Amino acid sequence: MEICIIGTGYVGLVTGTCLSDFGLEVICVDKDSEKIECLNSGRVPIYEPNLEDLIQKNVNAGRLSFTTDIEKGIKESKAIFIAVGTPPNDDNSADLTQIEKVAQQIAQHLNGYKVIVNKSTVPVGTAGKIKEIINSFSPSPLQHPFDVVSNPEFLREGSAVYDFTHPDKIVIGTTSIKALKIMQEIYRPLYLIDTPFMITNPETAELIKYACNAFLATKITFINEIANLCDKIGADVHQVARAMGLDGRISPKFLHPGPGYGGSCFPKDTRALCSIAESFGYEFQSLNAVVSANIRQRELMVEKIKRLVGKLRGKQIGILGLAFKMNTDDIRESSSIDIIKILLGEGAKIKCFDPLAMDNTKKILPDIIYCQDEYETAQGCDALVIATEWNQFRNLDLNKIKKLLKNPTFVDLRNLYEPATLKSLSFIYEGVGRK
Ligand code: UDX
Repeated sequence: MEICIIGTGYVGLVTGTCLSDFGLEVICVDKDSEKIECLNSGRVPIYEPNLEDLIQKNVNAGRLSFTTDIEKGIKESKAIFIAVGTPPNDDNSADLTQIEKVAQQIAQHLNGYKVIVNKSTVPVGTAGKIKEIINSFSPSPLQHPFDVVSNPEFLREGSAVYDFTHPDKIVIGTTSIKALKIMQEIYRPLYLIDTPFMITNPETAELIKYACNAFLATKITFINEIANLCDKIGADVHQVARAMGLDGRISPKFLHPGPGYGGSCFPKDTRALCSIAESFGYEFQSLNAVVSANIRQRELMVEKIKRLVGKLRGKQIGILGLAFKMNTDDIRESSSIDIIKILLGEGAKIKCFDPLAMDNTKKILPDIIYCQDEYETAQGCDALVIATEWNQFRNLDLNKIKKLLKNPTFVDLRNLYEPATLKSLSFIYEGVGRK
């Protein structure tokens, strides 16, 4: 079976590559010719562990190709995956312009029965909207029937290839038996390893995606607020989270407190779900509170730094980590970047280091100091702040760091260190919820 993937961002590229590794023939299409040129010359425009090797393997096997020619992609495929961006509008609703445009192009090039699979995160009702657009733009809708399926992704950046090949569920939203059979054939390798398949209608599938992300964002925000409370009352959030996690109904995952969630999904999707609820006349009170508590979490982290170093004006702050989490070069809605912006606004000077995200950060913050490593960052600083949980920040030579800092102030926003260890080395140390 031949598959066309439209959009070669994180989701599209990982989906296309992994499906080709399942043995399917995959054409990845993107309107960005630079990106396609880059992929065709063997380079990968994003960093994602194992992706480059997998692309190379499947390109060499002749199963994976890249093109800007959408007509070819559509005409040669039985299943067409839409994986284009749905950035937020000013009112936080999802901007569906790219999806609508792709639906029009699909309509123009239909040449037989196709399954149109939507992977992009979209408001409830979008599958129906795609169907309407294709029907109204297709020159001969009766001659070329099609079905629209909602098949949301649950990939984490930094482990997207693993997540695609070891999912905890596959959600297929369709009312068509024919489309369902094709989807089951596409995901057969996962079916064989007993992955649960959730077959439902498109609207439910669309809501499942938002509900999962919003719930995880809520869980993180909840533990962040417990940590803030721990800071005030002298309790240890690690022990609270561990005890909570031992309750099978809660589970230990996503209970790591920090500077607030970021990335390309949680911030956008939580706001979008509030806006979807509003459009149906419902005020999603708890999720609205999560959205504002997550903004406040960044501000509280700056307050923490301020409490330890005093007035920020003229102070040199070293920031370790710019990416929104480890193992990615992605800085979208990164709490580290937001914190840096607040610190700069209050007159602090910033030195920083990140193993992968410095090139992306230079594009939006060209005037801060970028360092070679953790030690150059610490040199002469009034405080060193860990903002992203990169593994290489877990084993710093603390004696060396202490000598390099102007003041031995260490703010650990990811709780990578034991407070007692740092205090025994005479650091002024604070984590999140571990006083
Ligand atoms: C997320 C979802 O996990 C994934 O299923 C969905 O498809 C896309 O959005 P991703 O954005 O890649 O994936 O990152 P994730 O690992 O979920 O982390 C999101 C944010 O939450 C990061 O900023 C991370 O640092 C933060 N986080 C996560 C915490 O602060 N504490 C936690 O316990 C977990």
